[in-house]
Amino acid sequence: MHLSTAFKALATSALLAQSAAALQAVTRSGRYLYTADGNRFYIKGIAYQEQGVVLSDSNAPFSEPSTFIDPLADGDACARDLPFLQQLGVNAIRVYSVNASLNHDSCMSALSGAGIYTIIDLSLPLNGSIDRTAPAWSANLQDSYIETINVFKKYDNVLAYNVGNEVVTAPNETSIAPFIKAAARDTKAYLASQNLNTLVGYAAIDGDATWVDPLANFLSCDSESDAIDLFGLNNYEWCGDSTFEDSYAGIEGAFAGYNVAAYFSEFGCITSPPRLWTEVQALFSDQMSPVWSGGIAFSYFPAESAQGEFGMVTISGSTVTPNSDFTRLVAQYGNATGPNSPSQASAGAATYPTCPTANSSFLASTTLPPTPNDTACACVVNSLSCLFTPQTANTTGILGPLLDTGCSLLGSAGGNCNDISGNGQTGTYGRLEFCDPSTKLSFVMTSYYEATNRNAQSCDFSGNATINKNAPSDTNAVNAAVSACLANSAAVFTPTTPSTSGSGGSGSSGSGSSGSGSSSSSKNAALGQRGLLMDVKSGAIGTALMLVVTVAAGFMTLA
Ligand SMILES: *[C@@H]1O[C@H](CO)[C@@H](O)[C@H](O)[C@H]1NC(C)=O
Ligand SMILES: *[C@@H]1O[C@H](CO)[C@@H](O)[C@H](O)[C@H]1NC(C)=O
Ligand SMILES: *[C@@H]1O[C@H](CO)[C@@H](O)[C@H](O)[C@H]1NC(C)=O
Ligand SMILES: *[C@@H]1O[C@H](CO)[C@@H](O)[C@H](O)[C@H]1NC(C)=O
Ligand SMILES: *[C@@H]1O[C@H](CO)[C@@H](O)[C@H](O)[C@H]1NC(C)=O
Ligand SMILES: *[C@@H]1O[C@H](CO)[C@@H](O)[C@H](O)[C@H]1NC(C)=O
Ligand SMILES: *[C@@H]1O[C@H](CO)[C@@H](O)[C@H](O)[C@H]1NC(C)=O
Ligand SMILES: *[C@@H]1O[C@H](CO)[C@@H](O)[C@H](O)[C@H]1NC(C)=O
Repeated sequence: MHLSTAFKALATSALLAQSAAALQAVTRSGRYLYTADGNRFYIKGIAYQEQGVVLSDSNAPFSEPSTFIDPLADGDACARDLPFLQQLGVNAIRVYSVNASLNHDSCMSALSGAGIYTIIDLSLPLNGSIDRTAPAWSANLQDSYIETINVFKKYDNVLAYNVGNEVVTAPNETSIAPFIKAAARDTKAYLASQNLNTLVGYAAIDGDATWVDPLANFLSCDSESDAIDLFGLNNYEWCGDSTFEDSYAGIEGAFAGYNVAAYFSEFGCITSPPRLWTEVQALFSDQMSPVWSGGIAFSYFPAESAQGEFGMVTISGSTVTPNSDFTRLVAQYGNATGPNSPSQASAGAATYPTCPTANSSFLASTTLPPTPNDTACACVVNSLSCLFTPQTANTTGILGPLLDTGCSLLGSAGGNCNDISGNGQTGTYGRLEFCDPSTKLSFVMTSYYEATNRNAQSCDFSGNATINKNAPSDTNAVNAAVSACLANSAAVFTPTTPSTSGSGGSGSSGSGSSGSGSSSSSKNAALGQRGLLMDVKSGAIGTALMLVVTVAAGFMTLA
């Protein structure tokens, strides 16, 4: 299985030759990817991100990173790793979170020179991703996604942006899908406004076909403007020297008629080492290439999880030591070349089928939430009579509990939290659903303060709230001002770069367990028919926000 030295040398010189030329743009025609010269493009990639600090919570089913290390911001580390990426023969890396305030020139240019594209997840741990326990497509998230795109748009080797990773993990979370699709819609519109046609994708956890298949179809349905370009399946099904029939026949059938490009956004056995990587032959074969455009092996860096450790190198200072997983993958990737067919001319026009109908295992409404409007949220804050004025810059841990408290107090005063909530199952979205959590909290505080006839004690929240002396004179005037700000709150439009002065709460968001984003941490092969890899999720912070959802849903039924 090992490549001969001669073959390695050949592979290396081919890479060097390739590096002389500028990287070709990769675009989608129908369900396939092509380089500008018309050749079919297969993702032959590896996950490339050091593991952050993983939150462990006995109440959470799986652990999820709370911090991340931006692998594209450390030029020395990229230079150290590049020879190993070249030895693997990869043409793409997947990165789970990047920091838009850092400089990425050195890594991006080194990778580009080596013919390596990047698939960049736009989400961040904690408050930087769609929170599966209280889902919203909100202004602070949209701003954060746009800031990342603005930093990366100058590079020629960004293949795709993912708007989420494993946000939906179970049938009862499929009602989050409309928020993911709205994120894809608005991200696509922003890219188009910048004259970019970078692919927009989502990376899904694998699971039962009764909900993963409609989720995939939902994200790619309807129209060019709200369909993803690239569906990623984090698939861990193949172990040992398996066969297509044993491991992949099911998903091959499920995606046989899929309308956009699909790939394995993560793959590699997680249950029974050693990993032989013989699935690479199947993935790039004539049998699977009509459906799949390659995949991302998990993972270059060490990745600890309950199931074991899945890195292919160990790193000590500037020394990289590949393990036998690495060597086996070199052999398999060295031999992997998907067929150069169909030709781009015969790939067919893009089609966008009707969206799947909701049923008991797939709950998503086809009514998507609107585009977040920063200006509207900032306008609302100016009109509110009681404002969230945190005594800490790190509001991530307090927003959830305060929202819970606020909604519960408001409920006892005869009000409700409908305006700040969204429901992806019924397709109903409150007027402030798209505002950042701080704005939502100020709105709830104000609603309670007004409901108690501006009793000063109602605008305190243990020192977290302050009366806004510039607010309109009375409840009716506040309501009128808020309504005026939100007159157009259901609109879908092309978002723009956030102004640095920002919206109310300056994007501080929060309360969130991150549904997505962040380096994959923990793998769980026990669930579902298919192999499973789970990132994930929610600790006490998320639990708190979940109460808000429950409370809000209760009010909706009463209303
Ligand atoms: C590489 O491909 C050749 C030709 O298809 C095949 O004979 C060989 O077994 C492959 N090597 C590996 C490591 O899969
Ligand atoms: C991004 O990097 C800056 C500078 O090191 C740091 O202050 C900030 O916290 C980082 N942001 C995130 C989200 O990690
Ligand atoms: C989804 O179902 C799981 C059990 O399968 C349950 O533990 C979880 O609380 C449910 N989540 C929601 C949001 O209903
Ligand atoms: C729901 O619809 C999907 C197709 O969109 C189907 O695969 C699944 O079996 C259906 N679930 C139930 C419970 O009927
Ligand atoms: C997350 O919260 C921090 C404050 O704790 C804030 O600076 C940042 O903007 C928030 N990020 C998002 C995407 O809301
Ligand atoms: C912010 O608060 C959260 C929750 O309390 C905590 O987990 C996190 O470490 C804090 N972040 C910083 C940068 O202090
Ligand atoms: C603000 O709210 C948080 C969460 O409920 C609470 O822990 C804190 O004591 C409150 N007061 C201040 C001044 O932060
Ligand atoms: C965003 O909200 C502002 C404030 O209400 C409004 O003037 C503007 O028209 C809205 N933008 C769009 C595109 O709907």
